[in-house]
Parts: sequence; C-alpha cells; structure tokens
Amino acid sequence: MARQINIEEDRDMALREGVSVLASGHPVAIPTETVYGLAADATNPVAIARIYETKGRPQFNPLICHMASLAMAEEHVTFDPLSRRLADAFWPGPLTLILPLKAESPIHSLATAGLDTAGVRIPEGFAAELINAFGKPLAAPSANSSGKISSTSAAHVEADLGDRIELILDGGASPVGVESTIVKIEADGTARLLRPGGIVAEDIERVIGVPLMRPEKASAAIEAPGMLASHYAPTAAVRLNAVSLEAGEALLRFGDADVSGQENAAVIIELSRSGDLVEAASRLFDAMKTADASGAHSIAITPIPHHGLGEAINDRLARAAAPRP
Ligand code: TXA
Ligand code: MG
Repeated sequence: MARQINIEEDRDMALREGVSVLASGHPVAIPTETVYGLAADATNPVAIARIYETKGRPQFNPLICHMASLAMAEEHVTFDPLSRRLADAFWPGPLTLILPLKAESPIHSLATAGLDTAGVRIPEGFAAELINAFGKPLAAPSANSSGKISSTSAAHVEADLGDRIELILDGGASPVGVESTIVKIEADGTARLLRPGGIVAEDIERVIGVPLMRPEKASAAIEAPGMLASHYAPTAAVRLNAVSLEAGEALLRFGDADVSGQENAAVIIELSRSGDLVEAASRLFDAMKTADASGAHSIAITPIPHHGLGEAINDRLARAAAPRP
C-alpha cells in the first residue's frame, strides 16, 4: 500500500512530501485535471527508468514533460508562432504540444525517447504548484500499468500501482477524465493532431485558423508510440456501438439509449443520461473499471457521437476494444 496525502486536507504537506520523494529520484502519483500522472524528475534518468519499471512499459515511449509556467517551458523548448498561440489559449490545461528541444535543456533523453522534440504541457492547479515547488519539469505518463485503463482517482492508482509506489497525492476525481490532446505544428506550418483529448479539436482549429491533420493510423503510431492499438484494456472484452445486449454483459450507456435485452445486464452504468459529452468523458475510465469489476465477460457500450470530446472518448474506446497482444 502506498502512503496517501489528501491535498484538500493538507496542501503544504502534500507539496513538501511530494517534493521530497521526487528529489529522492522516485515517482509520485499526482492528480492532474486530465488523469492521475506517475511523475518523476524529467532530468534524472534513474527516476525516469523507475516510471517505466513501475508501469511495466515494454519500451521507452516518449513521456510528456509537465511545466509550471511558460517561462519554465521556454527554458527547455522553442515555440513557433502557432504553438505559441495554442499555449496562450489553452495553458494551463489539457493540451500537449510537441516542440523542438533546446540543446541546453537538461531534460533527459530517456524522457524524450531520444527524439529531438519534447511533449510539453502546463497542467492546472496542484500539479503546477508541485512542479513550481520542485523547480524542474516532471515527466509523467498516466498512473496505470502499461496497457490498462488510466486512473482518474487516488483509489484507482492504489488498486493498480499501490504495491509499487511510495506516495499518492489525492486530489479527488480528475475533472476532465481523458488525457490531454497532443498537437504538433510541423516546420511548414502543418498542424497535426497526434491524439484527441481533453481540448476538443474544433477549439484548436478555431485558434490556429487551419484544419488539424489526422494522420494515417500507421504513421501516427510512429509519431506517438503511446498511441498503439490495444490500450486502456479492461479484463473483459469490449463491444462498441451496442444496440442490444447479450445476457450477462455489462452496459455503459450514453444518453437515453434504449438497449434491447438490458434487463439482463450484469450492471448498467450511465456515462451521461443527459447526453453530455463532457460528463461522459469525466466518467469514462471509472465506468470501465466498475463494469470490469462486475465480473462481466464483456462490456457493451452504446454509440457515442463523434463531435467535441466524443472524438477522444471514441479513440479510447476503440483502443479498449482492439485485439489484445
Ligand atoms: O493528460 C495527459 O497527457 C496525461 C497526464 C498525466 O498529463 N499524460 C499522458 O502521458 O497521457 P502518456 O505518457 O500516457 O502519453 C504520452 C503520449 C504518448 O502517446 C507519446 O507517444 C506522446 O505523448 N509523446 C510524448 N512526447 C512525444 C514526442 N516528442 N513526439 C511525439 N509524441 C510524443
Ligand atoms: Mg497512458
């Protein structure tokens, strides 16, 4: 079991203890507005290696480097004008920008997987305070074992990684509920959406004034290795776009969808009765974990509209339903 500190109860102690464990070269589970992160000193290769070991990640994927401020980010990466406009519009918040690393940045190549770019974002609230107190960027993937569902509460982190980490900082339920949107502006000004997420693509397009390219699945896999097929996988099978239920399945329902056979569901979980995609995103991972915990052999999910946050929700669901290795 990991030690937990509730941030609302004692913010100063959470900051102090968080900084102390980070300084010792060990990862700490921290709340962010998207999902919980497993954070470590982005300049310390031993600390970063411990993230991979803790998650059981098979290969060294590049990690997102979290910054406290634009000033801190500018010490490590350079901004083209469109990326700068996106940073001004959406930071702090659930947007990650892929930016050229400065030669003098002490961010370790284990965090960037040897690329000459870094994924950078400024999170909201406590996470930014912790980074500020620590004084260095934090590399942080989602706080879950590799391939499993991301954690949106301290209890999720404890259940998945509690026997492998020292400290969980409990900031309550993650308000956004899906990971950050990842965008890369190419040298020629092409804007690429590498991962749909908490900032909806339409809002990004409005700010940059050009459409986001959604690259072919294959090249997306090379560009963002963490985007590979099976991911977010519960133990149960996952069945998408369900309009009827097979006996004993768990049901995740969006809106007031009337699903035939639902009276025989192992459990019915509402993603959002009113059909609100923001609410559905915030509940998605917890709903999948709850459905999985019911012991059902399969989780059926009703169709989710593809606009707004629906793009990120459908991306995560497609990966949860992908063939398992
Ligand atoms: O909301 C989030 O982004 C959460 C919270 C904790 O901040 N973090 C997160 O990290 O989702 P992770 O490690 O699970 O996902 C990082 C993604 C991967 O798909 C990785 O391939 C991509 O970011 N990435 C990181 N650096 C990159 C780079 N230099 N070029 C391309 N892709 C990069
Ligand atoms: Mg992840």
